[in-house]
Parts: sequence; C-alpha cells; structure tokens
Amino acid sequence: SAPVVTLDGPSGVGKGTTASLLAERLGWHLLDSGALYRVLALASEEADVAVDDEARLEAMAAELDVQFKGREGLQRVILDGRDVSDQIRTEECGGRASRVASLAGARRGLLALQRRFAQAPGLVADGRDMGTTIFPQAPVKIFLTASPAERARRRHKQLKEKGIDANLSELESAIAERDQRDAERNASPLKPADDAVLIDTTEISIGEVFDRVMKLVEE
Ligand code: CDP
Repeated sequence: SAPVVTLDGPSGVGKGTTASLLAERLGWHLLDSGALYRVLALASEEADVAVDDEARLEAMAAELDVQFKGREGLQRVILDGRDVSDQIRTEECGGRASRVASLAGARRGLLALQRRFAQAPGLVADGRDMGTTIFPQAPVKIFLTASPAERARRRHKQLKEKGIDANLSELESAIAERDQRDAERNASPLKPADDAVLIDTTEISIGEVFDRVMKLVEE
C-alpha cells in the first residue's frame, strides 16, 4: 500500500501548514483529518443531532459525503456538493468538533473514510491520532509540540490574517480546554506514537520544521 507520513499534535503547532507544504513538495495526497471532525460537527448541527448522540453521530460519520478540492494549502472542503470551507473554520465549529471528537462512536465512524486516503503515490496525514490509530504502520511519524502561549499567538495571527480580531486570552483558554479534551478522551487520546519523532516548534520557524520533516522523509 502507499507510503504514509503522519503529522500529529495539538492545536496551533503548525501541523496544517507543515502538512500541506510537505504534500505539495512530495506530490502526495493530503488528509486534513481535523476538517472531517469539523464537517461532522457542522453536518450534525444542521441535522439537529445532539453533540452527545453517539449512535447517530457514528452513522452520520460513516455516510459523510466529503471531498477535498483544489491544491494543497488552498484546499476547499465540500460537503454534499456544497463548499463549507469557511463555515467549518469558525471557533464555534472547532469547539463543537472537539466535543464530537471525544466520542468513540464518532471516531469509529470516520475511520474507514480516513484510511481510504492512503493512495499512491503517498499520503501526508495531519491530525491527532494519525500515527497511533489510523495509520499505525506508517513508516514516518512526526509529533509536533509548542508551548501553549506560542500556539495561542499563532492562532491569533492566523485569524488576524483572515480579518478576525480574536482575543488572545480567550484563545489561550480555548486551547487549554481543547488540550484537556484531547488528552482525556478515552478513544484515541492525544499522545505521540511510540515510534514518533518529536519536534518542539516553539522556537523554530515553519521553514525549519519543514526542513527537518523533509529530512526524516528522505531517510
Ligand atoms: O487545530 P484545531 O484544534 O483548531 O482544529 P483541527 O485540527 O481542525 O481539529 C478539530 C477538532 O477535531 C480538534 O479539537 C481535535 O480534538 C479533533 N480532532 C481529532 O480528535 N482527531 C483528529 N485526527 C483530528 C482532529
């Protein structure tokens, strides 16, 4: 089967940017698994499914009609033929996604869909449990970290570029809350795979992170 590079870690460590640069450079497919949880959050909200209705969320996840269109970095996310890229990027949708993602059923429902992305010539998979649960056989596994303050700063900057002036301390507490949920959920809690390489990105630029990751892939 196709080679897979997994990039895992918490919010705001630069996973998304690193993953899309890497996919572009290698000419491989890209899986933004967080987008799938966000789409499930949106679709379930629109269908009036409660965020703790595990059985319905699992069924919905398994039937989700999601497509990623366009080049890496500028990927559009299509749900049932409708472009939901902007809708799923709100903090509100992220918060709901984080709650949905805490349910084992929702995670099970998205499993097969995620594995189908592993196609020739290769896949770069961005998420929380890519190396531990979804692609445990991946030959290259990377786990990115950064201090919570730095991650909040990055998220703030990212939102600013989109014209959104968020409150830094609110972002910090949202990040802390999400970290806690990521770490404490029973299904696939956020942790590095035993064979993952850890990179602390607090003090280094995206360019440097990219170079280090590229080196690991070329080995
Ligand atoms: O980076 P951020 O947390 O803002 O969002 P994301 O990566 O788009 O993921 C949205 C939510 O889905 C996060 O709160 C994660 O907890 C969850 N998620 C997950 O549980 N497993 C994944 N493989 C990817 C995302």
